[in-house]
This record gives sequence, C-alpha cells and structure tokens, in this order.
Amino acid sequence: MIVVIGSINMDLVLRVPRMPLPGETLTGGAFRTIPGGKGANQAVACARLGRTQVAMVGCVGDDAFGATLRAALAADGIDVSHVSALPGVATGVASILVDANGQNSIVIAGGANDLLTPALIDAALPLIARASIVVLQLETPLDTVRHAIAVAHGLGKTVVLNPAPAASLPAGVLAQVDYLVPNEIEAAMLLGADIAADDHATTAAALRAAGCRNVLVTLGAKGVHAALADGSRDFPARAVAAVDTTAAGDTFIGGFVAALAAGADPASAIDLGQRAAAIGVTRHGAQTSIPYLNELAPT
Ligand code: RIB
Ligand code: NA
Repeated sequence: MIVVIGSINMDLVLRVPRMPLPGETLTGGAFRTIPGGKGANQAVACARLGRTQVAMVGCVGDDAFGATLRAALAADGIDVSHVSALPGVATGVASILVDANGQNSIVIAGGANDLLTPALIDAALPLIARASIVVLQLETPLDTVRHAIAVAHGLGKTVVLNPAPAASLPAGVLAQVDYLVPNEIEAAMLLGADIAADDHATTAAALRAAGCRNVLVTLGAKGVHAALADGSRDFPARAVAAVDTTAAGDTFIGGFVAALAAGADPASAIDLGQRAAAIGVTRHGAQTSIPYLNELAPT
C-alpha cells in the first residue's frame, strides 16, 4: 500500500488572457472548479499510474467542496477512511490563474488542511503500518509533517517528501527522507539559497550531504536531475506543447512512487513519472489532467 499524507484543495481556476497587474480588472476569463491539492493530486496519480492500493490521510471541511473532493478520491479507488471531514471548517481552496502561455499563479487558503494534527497521524498508524511507501508534501502544518516522517521512518517505510511549497525544514528531517523531490526553488530554499540555482549537481549533492538518501530535482521542461544512492544522472524531459503545468510535479511524483511500489528501479520509476507528467501538461487542471497507466506509450 502507498499512503499519501497531505493537502486536499478545491482549485478555483480562472483561465485569463494574461496575468492582471495590481489594481487592474481583466475580462474574458473562463472559470472551473477542479479537484486539487498537492497531497490529493499525488494520491490520484499514484492510483491511476499503478496497481498498488493507495490511502490518503488528510482533512477537508464539512462543506460541499469537502464532500466532492472526498468522493473524487474514492472514485479513483483511494481509501479515504482517514480523510477527516472537520465540522465548522472550510475545505482548502487554491485560487489559480492560468494565462494563455499555460503559466499559473496560485494563492492557497489552507482551511481544513491547516488542522491536520500529529494526533490524526497517530490515529492513522494502522494504515501507515501497512504501507510500503509514505508520501508527504508541505501544504499541511510542518509539525505534523515532521511527526509523520518520524513515524514512517521509524517503522522502516520508504519516505518520499515533496518539499512544496518552498520552506526551510527543521534539522534532522532530511536524514529521515529516502527520496526528496524538490524543484529548483524548493531545493535552494532547503539549502538557504547559497548555491547557484542552476547548479543542480551541487544542489543535489548538498541535499544528499544533509542526509536524504536520494534527491530528484525537477527542472520543468528541462527534466530531472537525480542524485541517487548509486550515482547521479540527468533525465531530459520530452518536448511537449504545454497548455497548463498545474500538478505536473504531482503527476511526476505519483508516477514515480507507483512504479517504485511495483518494484521498478529508481531510473525506470523516474521515466514513468516523466512520461505521465508529459501527458498531464497537455491537459487542463490538476486531477483532471492526470493520465492513467494505459494512456502511457510503451517504452
Ligand atoms: O501542485 C498543484 C496544486 O497546488 C494545485 O492543485 C493546488 O491545489 C495547489 O495545492
Ligand atoms: Na495539467
């Protein structure tokens, strides 16, 4: 089993011709609500891109968005028994603008995600104990993430951390991470930003020196730089016509984790994640864009 611990958001997506300036009103937008949240997106990608049972640990509010999001996870076959619907709290939302070039800007109101406590992680212990891989991000409180990583690591689980959105982490956390998957900005943030952002080899080596066993720096259209326990390698991305990169990182991580859970070696797992993300960026939205395993071209 794969357990994903993290955020669940309703994405409020406006497609706009271009990003507005401060004080400016733009017309001509198109609006959609689309299931999102980094945790939920990664859980959905794990479920669609593999055959291992996936369970989600997280919080929604007891509102319409929460019910819709919980049902969306369940519809992908994900165990939602530890997705708590908290009374009197708003479900997390992400307000997303996507421009004509597919660039996005995102503002998050964490809502129920901010109430995922260490106690709720402990309540999910029986689930975590059955997992082979535990996946986390940083859209839930840092104390909870730290606690969950310590619990999962203590149980001998493979811990995958996507340190997004960018934040610095308390000392000791990185040493409990088996696969750290930051983008360039997140990697620089973890290191205190004293390394040139484009020196991926040095960045990844520094993160391994901080204790992570393997580091995969995602570089968008430039691919992935992987510093693995058995050596470093670049994985160039396929050239595609991107219309919306929302959740591209989540799709990569889900594909990577699903393949690892199925017994793939890290290099083939990275390749599967990249093939999935290359499809995802050609489609709109977060969970609406995540492909199924049978959509991936054979290698
Ligand atoms: O990674 C993409 C996600 O980030 C979106 O779905 C949005 O909810 C934000 O959490
Ligand atoms: Na997309």
